[in-house]
Amino acid sequence: MLKGLGEERLLRCFKDLSPDEREALLRQIGSIDLSLPAAFREYRDGRNGRGEAQTVPRDISPIRVMRLSEIGEKMKFFRERGLREARTGKLAAVLLAGGSGTRLGAEGPKGAFDIGETRHVYIFQRIFENLNDACAEIGRPVRLFVMTSESNHEETVRFIREHGFFGYPEDLVSFFTQDMAPALDEDGHIMLESAGRIATSPNGNGGWFVSLENAGLVDLCGREGITWLNVFAVDNVLQRICDPVFYGAVLESGLPAGAKVVRKTSPDERVGVICLDGGRASVVEYYELSDAMRDQKLGDGSYAYYYGVTLNYLFRISDLRAVAGKDMPIHFAHKKIPCYDDATGKTLKPDSPNGWKAEYFIFDILRSLDGCLPFEVLREREFAPVKNASGPDSVETARELLRRNGVEV
Ligand code: UTP
Repeated sequence: MLKGLGEERLLRCFKDLSPDEREALLRQIGSIDLSLPAAFREYRDGRNGRGEAQTVPRDISPIRVMRLSEIGEKMKFFRERGLREARTGKLAAVLLAGGSGTRLGAEGPKGAFDIGETRHVYIFQRIFENLNDACAEIGRPVRLFVMTSESNHEETVRFIREHGFFGYPEDLVSFFTQDMAPALDEDGHIMLESAGRIATSPNGNGGWFVSLENAGLVDLCGREGITWLNVFAVDNVLQRICDPVFYGAVLESGLPAGAKVVRKTSPDERVGVICLDGGRASVVEYYELSDAMRDQKLGDGSYAYYYGVTLNYLFRISDLRAVAGKDMPIHFAHKKIPCYDDATGKTLKPDSPNGWKAEYFIFDILRSLDGCLPFEVLREREFAPVKNASGPDSVETARELLRRNGVEV
């Protein structure tokens, strides 16, 4: 099979491996997506993983965003609607914590990172505190599904257990693991990390629903009457999770999804903005926006592409079941990938990018759904992502925002 795919070099050290190592390598080969090299070749030749031409920007146009002023007027109504539904147990939360956190550069899971200065403030702790606030408002705890990756699963579970789930009811927290994708070399062939192990990385945050389903947790939702999921990133330490106002607004819209968005700080801010692509809700990356689009204004004088996604979404499960995992584009990123060095037989840590990582992005799900409500939130109140060790979206900026919101750090 490997020969047919042109990937037989994966077995080049096979004869030198112990029986256990051989078995582990064969198991790993059986578990990874072997169609990636072909998808990469199409990508490199100008077509995406579905064989379509990679013409960016796509058919992009502005989307109507529900702004703070409108939300303010209907706040009470939205909150009551959201609370009424959440109180019947229809809403659960999904924490995406499978990322590698390379920009932060800390050892271990990003959620275990301590952003405190005068006391311990772990990122996971902030998530549980925020969730607890929501549960107090709703009047009942909600289920939390935590996505990890093969690389950080054990440490994540151990860390959260050691901290007593930060006071959250343990029986309501379920962990599930996302899939890993093989890394590809410059020629698009699958790389070895060591003689008996393929180099892999988490396959992006877009595979979360398929992994949730494979773990039997979508069925669990069905059994428990959970019909909506609030999916969010691990690193925004200010976000409101299971926010009844957001939930109520999305329910009221009749749409199958909602996205919390923030106004950009300037037209140049490097953030993906919500838009329509071919008439369907989508996200356009900052580097895909032409200068003209970046500066384009609407009739009321506001910028047409000015609302950045915060990675906090609401999804109706019945709609996801129909579309998730189908036709998701694969994004390839050029990265430094530790790899097996044939000359020395050791793992080499490169100083510059030497291969490609493949990822699915969560926002690509939006395009398959019949609409999404972009819902503005106040940046200073709800958006403090910890992406970098210093500079913008860093530990320092997050601390400052937490302090301004009355959280001791
Ligand atoms: P990022 O895009 O910030 O990626 O993830 P990252 O891997 O955490 O960090 P860098 O890019 O290496 O510095 C946004 C959210 O998606 C999750 C992350 O944990 C974070 O909550 N994610 C990302 C996954 O769960 N799995 C992935 O494979 C990638």
